[in-house]
Parts: sequence; C-alpha cells; structure tokens
Amino acid sequence: MTTATTPTTQGLPGGDTVRVEIDDNAIGWVYFNRPDKRNAMNPALNVEMYDVLDALEGDDRVKVVVLTGTGEAWSAGMDLKEYFRETDGKPRWVQNRVRRQGTDWQHHKLISYPKPTIAMVNGWCFGGAFVPLVSCDLAIASVDARFGLSEVNWGVTPGNLVTRALAEVMPTRDAMYYIMTGESFDGRKAEELRLVNEAVPADKLRERTVELAGKLSSLSQWVVRGTKMGFRHARLMPWDVAEDFLYAKHDQAILYDEQARSKGMEGFLDDKTYRPGLGTYES
Ligand code: COA
Repeated sequence: MTTATTPTTQGLPGGDTVRVEIDDNAIGWVYFNRPDKRNAMNPALNVEMYDVLDALEGDDRVKVVVLTGTGEAWSAGMDLKEYFRETDGKPRWVQNRVRRQGTDWQHHKLISYPKPTIAMVNGWCFGGAFVPLVSCDLAIASVDARFGLSEVNWGVTPGNLVTRALAEVMPTRDAMYYIMTGESFDGRKAEELRLVNEAVPADKLRERTVELAGKLSSLSQWVVRGTKMGFRHARLMPWDVAEDFLYAKHDQAILYDEQARSKGMEGFLDDKTYRPGLGTYES
C-alpha cells in the first residue's frame, strides 16, 4: 500500500459540496467539501453525499470508502443557517424531506453499506456529524480533532439520530455527561470513550488510514461484507433468530466467493503455507 496516489474522479458524481476520488489502493476518498463553513452539512451536501456513496457502492474500482473533510474540519454538524433557519416556516413536508435526506445517507445508506467504511476524522466534529461518524464501520481520528455534542450550547436538544448513535458506541455515563454539558473533547479522549478506534498524530492520520484500508481490501470482499452486516444486525436479534441469520450470511459469503473458503482451508490444512490465527493466505 502507498499513500502516494494518482486519484481519479472519472465517472463520479460530486464536485460541489462533496469531493470524491479513487486512488491506486482501491480507496474511494469522500470529502465533506465546504471548508469555509467547516464542512457543515447543508441540504445540498446531504443530497450530493447520497449520490456519491451510491456511485461508489457499485464501482468495482473501490474496495474501501474513507469519509473525511477538506480543510480544518471533519464536519461541524448540521448547517444552522441552511438546514435549520432557512427551513423554519417552510411547509412541514418540506422540513420532513430535508430531514430525511440527511438521515438517508448519514445513517440508512452507511449502516448497510456493502463495502467497509472508515471515518478519518481530521478536525472539528460536532452535533449531527456524530451520526455518519458512528455509522461508519471504523473510525481513526487525529489526536488534535475536537468533538462535541454542542446542541445544548445553542439551545436545542440533539435532533436527527445523534443520541441514538451515541448510545451505540459510548458508555452511558460518558454519553450522558457530554450530551448534557455540551463540553468538547479531543481525539485521545474520543479513543478512550471508544467513539473512535484509535487516535494518531495528525501527520500519521492518512498513513494509518491507508494501512487499515489495505488490510480490509486484502480480504475477500464478500466475507468482509457478510461479517460486518452479521455484526450490525445480529446484535439486535434474539439468539435463535441470530443463529439462523448468521448461518445465512455465512453461506451467502461462500456462495458469492467460493474460492475464499477453499483457498483458506487448503493453504492451512494441505499446503501449510500460512496460519489463519496469525494472518491471511496469499491470494
Ligand atoms: N452551521 C452553519 N455554519 C457554520 C457551522 C454550522 N454548524 N459551523 C461553522 N459554520 C460557519 C460559520 O458561521 C462561519 O461562517 P461565516 O464565515 O460566513 O461567518 C464559518 O463556518 C467559519 O466558522 P467559525 O466559527 O468562524 O470557525 P472557527 O474555526 O473559529 O470555529 C467551530 C469552528 C466548528 C468550533 C465553530 O464554527 C462552531 O462552533 N460551529 C458550530 C458547531 C455546532 O454546534 N454544530 C452542531 C450543529 S447540530
């Protein structure tokens, strides 16, 4: 894997509020791209982001999607002007549509996204940005990134799915503390709270993300897909339903990529070329 890339934007949507490029490592880099507004999510960005993720989902050049921000922010959350103030007084159905277009990609699209997703948190991350952050499979933050559930600070309760997302990853006492006080915290604390997998120095952020993406793309894509969807869904099921569902995922992965399992077993049991406990087989 290399961090030096010759990215292409060929055949991809985006370009206004979202920047997207595909590099030589099969990573689809998706950037919140409103740096002057600290990448706050306005209605236009929400629509564009859905289209970008949709395009990358069906693009064979991409094995892993990384969501990051242009400039000094990951995302400063929902746009207070365009998402809130400018929709005040609009008909209810317009407000509802704007809200739905946010959660369409921030949660629904990302949570069942068939390819692995990594949030690479390069800076400010507030309020509504916690939804796509938690909906990504993995998250790496810069130690200097700054996080906060700032809604109480500007006089609202957290809307969207922020509270639900927080409850998914953070211990209750910590979630309650930060959601009720609006205090901010840095990347190291986010790691400690398990909001992100790890925090690294800013100058190592991209390198570590590319390394992690490389690990994911070296594995069978159908096996990785079945594994993440299995975890996401089974944890909400009763045990007997989970058993049935997980065996269905297991069999589906074999059906979609029969080579993965047979090569895996042959390499260990017959050829003795690798040990699954210590790494994967040469493909
Ligand atoms: N919604 C709308 N506009 C936003 C925004 C948001 N969430 N976050 C930043 N901006 C805009 C500012 O209004 C400003 O616009 P202007 O240049 O037209 O005046 C521009 O982005 C730069 O913001 P500024 O506050 O000057 O940048 P900063 O680097 O000093 O501070 C933040 C960065 C993120 C700490 C600060 O912008 C902030 O607190 N933003 C709101 C975060 C928040 O509460 N988000 C939750 C929303 S649910």
